[in-house]
Amino acid sequence: MERTFVMVKPDGVQRGLVGEIIARLERKGLKLVALKMVRVSEELARRHYAAHEGKPFFPGLIRFITSAPVVAMVWEGREAVAVVRNLLGPTDGAKAAPGTIRGDLANDIGFNLVHGSDSVESARREIDLWFRQDELLDWENHREAWLY
Ligand code: PPS
Repeated sequence: MERTFVMVKPDGVQRGLVGEIIARLERKGLKLVALKMVRVSEELARRHYAAHEGKPFFPGLIRFITSAPVVAMVWEGREAVAVVRNLLGPTDGAKAAPGTIRGDLANDIGFNLVHGSDSVESARREIDLWFRQDELLDWENHREAWLY
């Protein structure tokens, strides 16, 4: 099963959209295997967004991500990386189609509510960066035992 890293950014937390974002991922059939609220340090922010260092928006992006708590998660499922990216929609909320999280709820390129890993390799790197091994829960689904 594939895993991907998802972060509700400070704007998503401030706007009270954590539940809505989690609900959409759950309803798609993805499985939540790790979750924590984090006040992001400058060091963690710089390491997470290292690929964008030197771009004009980098300083503002680091300021934004470290400005208030975020919710960091790991989701698991079939083609989880691509499935999450499709659910999020493109980076710029103004260009994201209705029905996607950003298309429905965001209208900015930086304040775009949520981050999702862009490849399986990035997902591995980001999960390692944000979570310890013992924070990733390998749990079974017992739903069928509760259906009569
Ligand atoms: S790029 O330049 O095409 O690689 O950018 P992208 O991978 O789409 O997203 C880069 C992340 O930086 C955030 N950000 C911005 N991107 C582009 N332009 C501006 N002005 C900007 N400001 C912030 C953007 O939200 C992406 O964050 P994540 O967390 O990866 O979605």
